[in-house]
Amino acid sequence: MIAANVPHLPDGDSPDLILVPATPEERIASIKLNSIAWKGPLDVETYIAREDHLYSQRLTRDGLTCWILVDGTEPEGDRTILSSCETYQKKALLAHDGQVEDVSTHGIGSVYCRPEFRGKGYAKRMLEELSRKLDTWKMEKQPRGRALFTILFSDIGKKFYAQFGWRPFSSSHMVLPARAKGELSNGATGKCATRDLYAEDVDKHMCNGTVIANLCEEMRVASKKSQTATVAILPDFDHFVWHWAREEFFAQQLFSHRAPPTIKGAGNDDARVYCAWNRNFGETPEDSVLYILRWVYDEPTSPEQEQVLVQAMAGILRRAQHEAKEWGLSTVEFWNPEPLLQKAVKVLDPDAEVVHREKSSISSLRWTGDEHGLGQDVEWVLNEKYTWC
Ligand SMILES: CC(C)(COP(=O)(O)OP(=O)(O)OC[C@H]1O[C@@H](n2cnc3c(N)ncnc32)[C@H](O)[C@@H]1OP(=O)(O)O)[C@@H](O)C(=O)NCCC(=O)NCCS
Repeated sequence: MIAANVPHLPDGDSPDLILVPATPEERIASIKLNSIAWKGPLDVETYIAREDHLYSQRLTRDGLTCWILVDGTEPEGDRTILSSCETYQKKALLAHDGQVEDVSTHGIGSVYCRPEFRGKGYAKRMLEELSRKLDTWKMEKQPRGRALFTILFSDIGKKFYAQFGWRPFSSSHMVLPARAKGELSNGATGKCATRDLYAEDVDKHMCNGTVIANLCEEMRVASKKSQTATVAILPDFDHFVWHWAREEFFAQQLFSHRAPPTIKGAGNDDARVYCAWNRNFGETPEDSVLYILRWVYDEPTSPEQEQVLVQAMAGILRRAQHEAKEWGLSTVEFWNPEPLLQKAVKVLDPDAEVVHREKSSISSLRWTGDEHGLGQDVEWVLNEKYTWC
């Protein structure tokens, strides 16, 4: 006998199932459903307010779509949400054959199925449908009329999304503990001219036209020597503002007695190295992290320059450790560290190692450029935390 309040559930492969953009009411309903997984320390109403706050940011206000898998025979306004997710349209760069193009992509997030509906194939069906929809979704203005790739960050390992084409890419990080200002760590000299960066500094030093032009040029030159196409999510200021909107919302809720966090990164003008960060407040201090969203620096051209740069990076990391402590976070982390950054971490902690993630935040990319003569493989550069959604 079926209890009266349990709806009849279709099979995951039923021809009646459709994937559609949610109405505003259905979007709120899907946020309520996934709140048990992602509201963290917020109550449900505050979590919805946070999601609305993020939605209103420049990065997402025009490009966010909430998708729901429903039975197409049910009337709009009275449909059971079988599974849901969000997609965020993002600007990106594509380099191939000595040229760089501005392209558009989507990041996928909040893939969810309520516990009582799990194991019936709804998420699988949703992702199958989504992979096809995203090829052309909001791509009318693109020269090819199609997305050449889409990305997501899997928290459920490397296999599930790979079956729909989202292949795992490099997913490593380094971690340093939060430290109070007085605490010394190995090799930290304190001589470096590290300075705090505010939002406008991040814009000025990390998102300006020269930084983007240099990035394009590097990708263009590299693509002349390679058969493999290269993509990057455009590291524009909107990305940073979106991450900060998240931390500022949390800080307002959790630390209403103190001013919102205005220090958004650190830099060293002499060595010309800068980073932007955000504070990620989890349910406990142990899962609260200061994430470095992105690093900007010029490759050194001599061993002396390298030495200066590594010391400056170490000074910046030290500053990040202090900032993490200030806000009750347990660690400083940054993704896919280049060799120079690995050296800088070793200045502070000789035992620190690169961690290769197997389960959470697996950077994953689905490439369809081969259908457009761009080859079967693709390289993802700037695979840093700022791209996360
Ligand atoms: C992950 C989730 C969306 C799957 O929804 P679902 O409708 O039950 O999934 P399906 O029935 O279509 O597919 C089941 C498959 O999901 C995979 N899967 C589900 N949860 C998983 C987990 N925690 N780790 C790894 N794989 C998992 C399994 O491969 C399973 O395959 P199997 O049938 O061979 O065992 C759902 O469990 C959920 O909402 N979890 C909480 C939120 C979450 O973690 N979302 C993913 C964020 S990246």
